Amino acid sequence: MIENLRQVAVLAKARLAEAADLETLAKLDVEFLGKKSAVAIAKRQIAALPAEQRRDAGLEINATRAEITKALGAARHRLEQTVYQKQLEDERLDLSEYRHKRRPGSLHLVTQARDRLEDVFVGMGFTVAEGPEVESAWYNFEALNIPEWHPARGSFDTIFVELGEPEEVMLRSHTSPVQIRTMENQQPPIYIVAPGRTFRTDTADATHLPAFNQIEGLVVDRNITMGDLAGTMDEFVRTFFGSEVKSRFRPSYFPFTEPSAEFDISRPDGTWLELGGCGMVHPNVLSNCGIDPERWQGFAFGFGIDRLAVLRHELDDIRELVNNDVRFLRQF
Ligand code: PHE
Repeated sequence: MIENLRQVAVLAKARLAEAADLETLAKLDVEFLGKKSAVAIAKRQIAALPAEQRRDAGLEINATRAEITKALGAARHRLEQTVYQKQLEDERLDLSEYRHKRRPGSLHLVTQARDRLEDVFVGMGFTVAEGPEVESAWYNFEALNIPEWHPARGSFDTIFVELGEPEEVMLRSHTSPVQIRTMENQQPPIYIVAPGRTFRTDTADATHLPAFNQIEGLVVDRNITMGDLAGTMDEFVRTFFGSEVKSRFRPSYFPFTEPSAEFDISRPDGTWLELGGCGMVHPNVLSNCGIDPERWQGFAFGFGIDRLAVLRHELDDIRELVNNDVRFLRQF
């Protein structure tokens, strides 16, 4: 009997190891541990054995049962893992396919231009500064050497906010107030660019928007000259557009720079696009911010970012930038 149980155990383990699915396993469970199994029969026969053999037979039956039970458990675990793996495979969703079917969004043209401008100037050693879009007359005008009586105030087509004294609070008409805010808070040397939204009473047309974007530049250091301004502009144009775009200065006037210039760049058709103004920071502006003009000099510039985007993508009309037509925006 003991010999027989040994063989049954070996056989059971071999068949369990081969079982290919859970159904087969259930049948093997009945065959080797069920009521008609060799183990069950042997157990029933124990009573008929001589008393001195019962103990060994009992031990052997229990050992065989335990061995088969263990093998059964291992086989079940193996098969359940397989089923689980198969289920995982079957239920797998390829989400990347879904993602590719949908069109990913992209940054707006003006944001792209602004990011690139920041990159170019940061690459030249500038840091990025910011200021509020609603300003007081001090920052938008007075500190910039444009007192109340100054005729230049009119040329900024300012949008005023009904707050405080009349014409005291306004949407900033240029990014130049950030020059003042920076110099108030920081001693030279200063090398900053300040991109941001600006507002004027302009009616939208092919080349104007009432809400537009500028990038202001300000350098204050020792022995800064007009040559530094020209070199910086030159380097900027080359990095931003490549060497085929030319630039030029035209003498101009701004109350906050002296001398002042208008800065133009060449279009592919050979005409010139006015990008913005620049010049040497007026001594009054430095003094207004507590910086001694005898010891420090600076230059500043302010360019239209939207116009740069228009030029770069050869758009016919600057209003395309704000029409919010996705068919247009998706091209970029
Ligand atoms: N703030 C001026 C404008 O918007 C441009 C400018 C900036 C000119 C800095 C000189 C220096 O027209």
